[in-house]
Amino acid sequence: MIVREAGRDDGDFLADMLVAAVNWSPEWKKKSRRRVLAAPNTAHYIAGWPREDDLGVVAEADGERVGAAWLRFFPPGEPGYGFVAADVPELTIGVAAPWRGRGVGRALLRAIEARALEAGIGRIALSVERKNFAQRLYLAEGYEVVGAGSADSDTMVKILT
Ligand SMILES: CC(C)(COP(=O)(O)OP(=O)(O)OC[C@H]1O[C@@H](n2cnc3c(N)ncnc32)[C@H](O)[C@@H]1OP(=O)(O)O)[C@@H](O)C(=O)NCCC(=O)NCCS
Repeated sequence: MIVREAGRDDGDFLADMLVAAVNWSPEWKKKSRRRVLAAPNTAHYIAGWPREDDLGVVAEADGERVGAAWLRFFPPGEPGYGFVAADVPELTIGVAAPWRGRGVGRALLRAIEARALEAGIGRIALSVERKNFAQRLYLAEGYEVVGAGSADSDTMVKILT
């Protein structure tokens, strides 16, 4: 498995991973790709990829894309679910279902943090539902809960050093 920088041609795959992230719970009725990419609250995580200040990484195994993580800045007037400040980008991460639980997510997280540091970014924010095991991964990787996004979700931030 390798992790490389995400490029212009990865937009469709990143959209797939956004759909996976939205549909993280096997208990919920799945939202279609079309719906995820039409609803402003979810579509704005990927719309217009790549924007000038987007930063992303893709994991590949045997030449196949198996996961992605990316950062996007949101203005206060159009915040993401994990918004904390205009200069703190929000993380989106997803791994293709057959590849989960094998270390790809952790590798993506570390890679995107390294890219962010290089780009002079001091903090990364995200939103996660408390029932999603992804929260354990974030806690283990140094993200801290800074507030509740909703009754079921937390906003988390990592300070990069
Ligand atoms: C969340 C996600 C990105 C994590 O990537 P991953 O490749 O599955 O995670 P990793 O294999 O790197 O696992 C990291 C940690 O997550 C936890 N974890 C992984 N799979 C798990 C599972 N099936 N059940 C419980 N915990 C699990 C463990 O704490 C693991 O740490 P360990 O390796 O020390 O045991 C991936 O599972 C995914 O795409 N899920 C659906 C989309 C999603 O939820 N996105 C995030 C929205 S906030």
